[in-house]
Amino acid sequence: MMFFFSFPTLVIVLVVWVPIVLPFTIILSDSGSPSALVDAPQTGFSMNKNGARTNPQEQAAVFEIMKATGNGWATDIPDVCRGRWHGIECMPDKDEVFHVVSLSFGALSDDTAFPTCDQKHSFISPAITKLPHLRTLFFYRCFSYNPQPIPTFLGQLGPTLQTLVLRENGHVGPIPTELGNLTSLRVLDLHKNKLNGSIPASFRRLTHLRSMDLSVNRLTGQIPDLNNPVLSILDLNQNLFTGSIPPSIGNCPSLLKMDLSRNHLSGPIPEQIGNLRNLVLIDFSYNQLLGPIPNALGKLGALQALILKGNPMESTLVVGNWFERLKDLMILVLSDMSLYGPIPESLGLLPSLRVIHLDRNKFNGSIPASFQELKGLSELRLNDNQLTGRVPFIRETIWKMGQKMRLYNNTGLCYDPQNGLDDDIDSLVISGISYCETSRSTSIPTTQHLSDNSGHKSIFEWRSSAQICGSSIGLQVLVSLLMYLI
Ligand SMILES: *[C@@H]1O[C@H](CO)[C@@H](O)[C@H](O)[C@H]1NC(C)=O
Ligand SMILES: *[C@@H]1O[C@H](CO)[C@@H](O)[C@H](O)[C@H]1NC(C)=O
Ligand SMILES: *[C@@H]1O[C@H](CO)[C@@H](O)[C@H](O)[C@H]1NC(C)=O
Ligand SMILES: *[C@@H]1O[C@H](CO)[C@@H](O)[C@H](O)[C@H]1NC(C)=O
Repeated sequence: MMFFFSFPTLVIVLVVWVPIVLPFTIILSDSGSPSALVDAPQTGFSMNKNGARTNPQEQAAVFEIMKATGNGWATDIPDVCRGRWHGIECMPDKDEVFHVVSLSFGALSDDTAFPTCDQKHSFISPAITKLPHLRTLFFYRCFSYNPQPIPTFLGQLGPTLQTLVLRENGHVGPIPTELGNLTSLRVLDLHKNKLNGSIPASFRRLTHLRSMDLSVNRLTGQIPDLNNPVLSILDLNQNLFTGSIPPSIGNCPSLLKMDLSRNHLSGPIPEQIGNLRNLVLIDFSYNQLLGPIPNALGKLGALQALILKGNPMESTLVVGNWFERLKDLMILVLSDMSLYGPIPESLGLLPSLRVIHLDRNKFNGSIPASFQELKGLSELRLNDNQLTGRVPFIRETIWKMGQKMRLYNNTGLCYDPQNGLDDDIDSLVISGISYCETSRSTSIPTTQHLSDNSGHKSIFEWRSSAQICGSSIGLQVLVSLLMYLI
């Protein structure tokens, strides 16, 4: 390891936490911060026995921090910056004195052997404030069985700290106002704790934030006004936020990913969302957002995933045709939104679509013939609507998609034998879809086993298994997208 950027950490941050934006490795570029440290590859670093030594106060602080996490073994190391372990990074100043710039704890994966924490007894030592050059602080699954608030003294790390990760640590209580003093923070990750209270007003000062992940907590109050020109990732999913999505969201033009799903947000989606021309992923699912779906979404030419399911929008897709310009859209999830009217033919002209979920709405009319042209389509859910007419897919498409094509509970759908006949179109049979009436219907050999009784029994069996899987649908979507990007 000749480089001082904590490279394994950065790569992991991107791969594990923000799979959606894998191609956007810009997020954590570590440049431009004024520093007295020598910011370059350090050759001969740990070999140079007579060279630099760690600053003694910082070494003492590291020993305290290590002891507080159950890593007392570290105190046997004569010089922490020279006998380095994974999880500590140091940089020399021009006088060849090493300073600690990064500390990481927690078993993130088999490949990253950061020191693990004793989850029952660990705590964050106040000695951390004696590391004046610290840029990265990272604790993962460290205090899970010793619930504690996020210490306010972390705010004393001031404008030096750039990355603060306290992920899945079991932290309780509010987010300290003092974190607003970390004015150079680029990455703030408090995912999956038990934090309550609201987002501190002092966060207004975090104008360099590129990624803010407060997901899976118990945070309340409104989403504050945002004015972050470089914010790329905003993840507030699975909290208790109320109120509407602030129109000031339009002041974050760098946003790539915005996940506000599973909160109690209400009101309409603000038109200002149309300013966010770089957005790749929107997930607003499972809120109480109201329709109509804003036409401004049509300005988001970079959008790859739009997930609005579980909001009672009572809207139609035919007004505005906002989706027609979303040429990169791969994932469209609009289930359970009380959408009505026809499914527009032009939807099938979006060349990148892979996943379409329009199930559990009130769509009527027929399935657009253009859907047959979606060569990348791997998942189609149109079940529980009021669709009628011919299923426009040839036998090969139906066979290939299998259970990934859900058409059940649309009483008016039928299958045209001219699209290919065979005994093995199981997914149609279990969806209760029978052959369309044609003048040559006498030539169909398989009529008996499409009879109502056997068909309906299968539908109900299938429905119950689909509901069991329902909770993992979001994950499936992410996984599909991840697989695509890789
Ligand atoms: C840190 O923040 C708190 C509350 O936001 C403030 O009272 C305090 O003066 C700040 N400390 C420093 C060192 O800036
Ligand atoms: C946060 O949770 C703690 C218990 O963990 C509780 O005592 C406190 O009142 C809660 N605060 C808010 C603002 O809900
Ligand atoms: C679809 O439903 C609407 C009422 O919501 C109705 O006016 C329209 O005629 C229906 N269209 C078809 C093709 O059934
Ligand atoms: C069929 O779908 C409608 C929504 O279009 C729903 O209200 C109804 O409960 C569904 N029927 C069954 C048997 O699930």
